Amino acid sequence: MSEHDDNLPEQSTGSSVVDLTQGHVEGTGQLPERFDNPGLPPHVHRHGDDDEAAAKRSERQVAALFMMSMLATVLFAVAYFAIDKNDVITLPIIGRANALHAALGVTLGLSLLGIGLGAVHWAKTLMSDEEIAEERHQLRSDDETRQGAVDVVMEGGESAQVRRRPLIVYTLGGALGLFAVPLGLQLVGSLGPLPKNDLSTSLWSTRLGQKDGKGGRKRRLMRDPENTAIRLSDVTMGSVFHVLPEGINDTEHPLNEKVKASVLLVRLDEAKIKSQRQRDWGVDGVVAYSKICTHVGCPVGLYEQQTHHLLCPCHQSTFDMTDDCKVIFGPAKRPLPQLKISVDTDGYLVADQGFVEPVGPSFWERG
Ligand code: FES
Repeated sequence: MSEHDDNLPEQSTGSSVVDLTQGHVEGTGQLPERFDNPGLPPHVHRHGDDDEAAAKRSERQVAALFMMSMLATVLFAVAYFAIDKNDVITLPIIGRANALHAALGVTLGLSLLGIGLGAVHWAKTLMSDEEIAEERHQLRSDDETRQGAVDVVMEGGESAQVRRRPLIVYTLGGALGLFAVPLGLQLVGSLGPLPKNDLSTSLWSTRLGQKDGKGGRKRRLMRDPENTAIRLSDVTMGSVFHVLPEGINDTEHPLNEKVKASVLLVRLDEAKIKSQRQRDWGVDGVVAYSKICTHVGCPVGLYEQQTHHLLCPCHQSTFDMTDDCKVIFGPAKRPLPQLKISVDTDGYLVADQGFVEPVGPSFWERG
């Protein structure tokens, strides 16, 4: 018994495996014979292993594939700028397709294919394919092992002929480096035009009919959506008007302008207005404030006439209209900007100037 126990670990590495789910196994009184290590099949040399001319040929083929990748990447960049995004072409099998999309897809595909094929061909024809049997060791990381790892890496570099084939290294570096270009192009080129000061100004900052920043007259406050001008006398106590600037529908992007220029107009009891500036920027208690919540830009949705609170439905920010629309509740951090208004000679309410601060939520340059 003890003799067999001593040999149990060896049995597990022998040629016979005992399946314990089968129940008892009748022994023969002997351990099975161990089989001989069959070893590795004989190494087959490739053309390039013995023939330097064949290796050179492979090197050129690999370089050609990497250069094909580079060429395709450059063509990608050219196509991105040269082909009109509305051009249509007819392709076999596929039919009509957007020319720009087809060109970008084909060139990007060839670019990747060149790198992939080049790497595979390099590995298959030039890198060492010697089979190596690695002995098992205990998992230890002593100095000797570390040095061994470094040696393996160095040997790998050597066998990949990195030093002997600088042409491949340079062309691969060029192919991989250039491949970053289309990624960057798409990221940066698709961002669209810079907003410049678009986020900081609204249509209220301009005058109706002005040319080159000169002339024109103050824009009237117009009911939205009726597009009719509002007289001071129309704004009786308890009134709330949704207002847009006069001429907004004649702008190039009326919807974009509406997002920034929407205003609420109400009449307050002047005695209840706490800030002198707020009083001065209104007319007889009639005040105009941006309707765009300073949290994340929802239009404020409720006005409570007794308390004069404006409530944003998105996250319940609440603004006090009698106190310069300061935030009294919720996540918004800034008051709603006030629009300075007056009355023109015909008795209509007009904007004296644009908002003195950007409307809506904060953005990176707002400070
Ligand atoms: S957008 Fe108004 S509270 Fe969030």
